[in-house]
Amino acid sequence: MSFTYQNLQSEIVAASSDDQFAQAVLEGLSRNPKRLPSWLIYDDRGSEIFTEITQLVGYHPAQCEFEIFEQQKQVITDILPKDAFRVIELGSGDGQKTHILLKHLIQSKLTFDYVPIDISEGAIKDLVDFLKSRFSQSSMSVTGLAADYFDGLQVIREYPNRRNIVLFLGSTIGNMELPAAEQFVGKLQQSLKPGDYVMIGFDLMKHPKTLYAAYNDSTGVFERFNLNLLDVLNRKLGANFSKDHFVQQGHYNPKSHAVESYIYSTRKQSVFIEALEKEFFFEAWEAMQSEHSYKYTQSEIESLAENSGYRIVTNLFDEHHHFVDSIWEVKQ
Ligand code: AVJ
Repeated sequence: MSFTYQNLQSEIVAASSDDQFAQAVLEGLSRNPKRLPSWLIYDDRGSEIFTEITQLVGYHPAQCEFEIFEQQKQVITDILPKDAFRVIELGSGDGQKTHILLKHLIQSKLTFDYVPIDISEGAIKDLVDFLKSRFSQSSMSVTGLAADYFDGLQVIREYPNRRNIVLFLGSTIGNMELPAAEQFVGKLQQSLKPGDYVMIGFDLMKHPKTLYAAYNDSTGVFERFNLNLLDVLNRKLGANFSKDHFVQQGHYNPKSHAVESYIYSTRKQSVFIEALEKEFFFEAWEAMQSEHSYKYTQSEIESLAENSGYRIVTNLFDEHHHFVDSIWEVKQ
């Protein structure tokens, strides 16, 4: 079967996404307090470090979702159509959880294709190579798309008409604030057909101490992950951040319902960003927010589905109810 990938990010698109990146940095650093959007972190290196995070025992969102996939892969399989369908994954990263499901679907002799979409071309290429090494003898075809999610979904509309199930795992949706999440699931609903499914991973609200521990590992991977953002800015925008003069910490903020990650300037300093032709000042211990990870209650998840044209099919929880993969069907 075929294992291919395609980069939909043409030079024009790439140039406009570079602009978008520069614009987001300019806006974020001009704010008081400074605040950068979470998606800036995911260059190829950022995606690699995030893969390390998903292997940490203490990072419960990933561990819980692995448990859900392992324990409930048959429940998911039973929901899926018996005729040919398509598994689409938004932000597939290294695809480790999906691997569990794909393997089970193949063993169950179902007919389906897998279309992972990710903005990191490196991540897509590695994933397609990995799946090829494991499943080249199976009936599954894989078409990876290095693309913006909605550009990818647009292209898929031209593929043969099949029932789709869209996976959006790992609480990636937590990077959005609630209104943005509402907009996102609404737009997703518009890109799909009645009867299509989505499966979204939400990290649930829980004891703030548990959240704190999950986002402050003792080995410093989270700090490396966040400080990589400074390297990204140096590389992409010709900035001169020195990682030695910044540290990172995460904490749960009850006002935003999110775990927020901050990069702190350990001294008074200025940074010059060539692409913006602008200098930015940091006070000693000034904090710059680098991530936002919203924690959901079950009733918020229900409202999100119902207000956006979906019917909730089922909720799959881990043993401790720390996390849920919620499966929804696009309504008529
Ligand atoms: C990829 C957004 C789900 O917020 O939990 C993990 C990113 N940052 N540790 C999250 C992250 C620090 C992660 N998401």
